[in-house]
Amino acid sequence: MAGVDHEAETRTGDGLPCVLVVDDVEANLVAMQALLEGMGCEFALARSGNEALRLLLRREFAVMLLDVQMPEMDGYEVARYARQNPATRDVPVIFLTAANRDEERVLRGYGSGAVDFLFKPVNPKILRSKVGVFLELYASRREVQKSKRELEHAYDELQTAQAQLVQSAKMASLGELVAGVAHEINNPLSFVTSHLETVQKCLRNVEAESGQTLSPSAEESWARAKDRLKEMSTGLERIADLVVKLRTFSRLDEGERKHASLSECVESVLTILRHRTGQRIRVETRFQPDDRVDCYPGLLNQAIMNLVANAIDAVEGPGTVEIATGLDEQAYSIRITDSGPGIPPTIRERVFEPFFTTKPVGLGTGLGLSITYAIVQKHGGELTLTDAPRGGTTALIRIPFEAGNRS
Ligand SMILES: Nc1ncnc2c1ncn2[C@@H]1O[C@H](COP(=O)(O)OP(=O)(O)OP(=O)(O)O)[C@@H](O)[C@H]1O
Ligand SMILES: [Mg+2]
Repeated sequence: MAGVDHEAETRTGDGLPCVLVVDDVEANLVAMQALLEGMGCEFALARSGNEALRLLLRREFAVMLLDVQMPEMDGYEVARYARQNPATRDVPVIFLTAANRDEERVLRGYGSGAVDFLFKPVNPKILRSKVGVFLELYASRREVQKSKRELEHAYDELQTAQAQLVQSAKMASLGELVAGVAHEINNPLSFVTSHLETVQKCLRNVEAESGQTLSPSAEESWARAKDRLKEMSTGLERIADLVVKLRTFSRLDEGERKHASLSECVESVLTILRHRTGQRIRVETRFQPDDRVDCYPGLLNQAIMNLVANAIDAVEGPGTVEIATGLDEQAYSIRITDSGPGIPPTIRERVFEPFFTTKPVGLGTGLGLSITYAIVQKHGGELTLTDAPRGGTTALIRIPFEAGNRS
């Protein structure tokens, strides 16, 4: 049975159940079909064993009525071949034979996997009742398969929902924790910052009055104190920046929802980050004209900013960052592709975790992607990171229209 595989693909189980009637005598085919009229099934007619095997591969059959005496390939052989192929193995067979009722023949029939046996001339009532049983069996098997598919589908959905729940529960509890920490840091931060400013002001006053009276060593200490104060102020700025990030992370409901143009969002981010791209990185933008999205522009800007910042960080030496906005049938998209080394598979699972970073202390907080993820989720969208075709990483934000985003 060569060349059957591609035909097997066209097998279908939709529509009415079908009965395959196999007989080398045309008149018998017609008669059999007439006997089974009105049973709620279709018929396929085969005039030889080979034709029967071909038809078997093309679609599903509820039962095969198989004439035993046929030239070339007899009914037993047809049944044997059908049993050998997993795709046709389960089709029940009713052998039809004109031979006398000798036991050995009957047994031979069962031996090749037959499910039933009928003698010609066929008793119409018995034929209809037997075929009826197989039609019912077929219908219930289909029902079971359908339920199984539905069950599998429901299970998949359940798993996805569970994963999302776990994810959002994790995010929610983390959000509370982070909000608490940000609040705790913020109070001492503001008084340390303001005291530092006071100290600097006081020192300037003292300096103005003391004139040139300081000894060289006192002068040196003085300069060092001023220098350290400046460094402290830089450190405090960094902490303040972190607190802002932590707050955004925990309070993603801030800001107003309105229509904003994606290309304008990208342009504003690029203006802020221009000092980091400099001459080193060529930024290429491609904008979709109709790009006004109903969104939280402040948050969306931040999401884009995090992704572009990551892209810039990823590119060592000269390279490119491509930013494209787009629109398909379902969603707006922002695609950011860098020419960096890509994300190693070993850390791919972890990059969305809050505080996961591979950057040196002070350069990365590891919050960028987790914040971005939460922002995109808030817009009912998706964030994916994939390998770019020419190396590097592509970050893709998709914001669907269903969430009321199409303006
Ligand atoms: N475009 C990229 N190419 C290669 N690696 C990336 C890219 N984007 C993210 N990563 C990896 O994912 C890690 C986490 O990114 P994330 O933006 O969350 O934090 P970060 O960039 O390290 O710190 P922050 O965003 O707070 O400055 C990065 O440290 C980096 O290892
Ligand atoms: Mg980042």
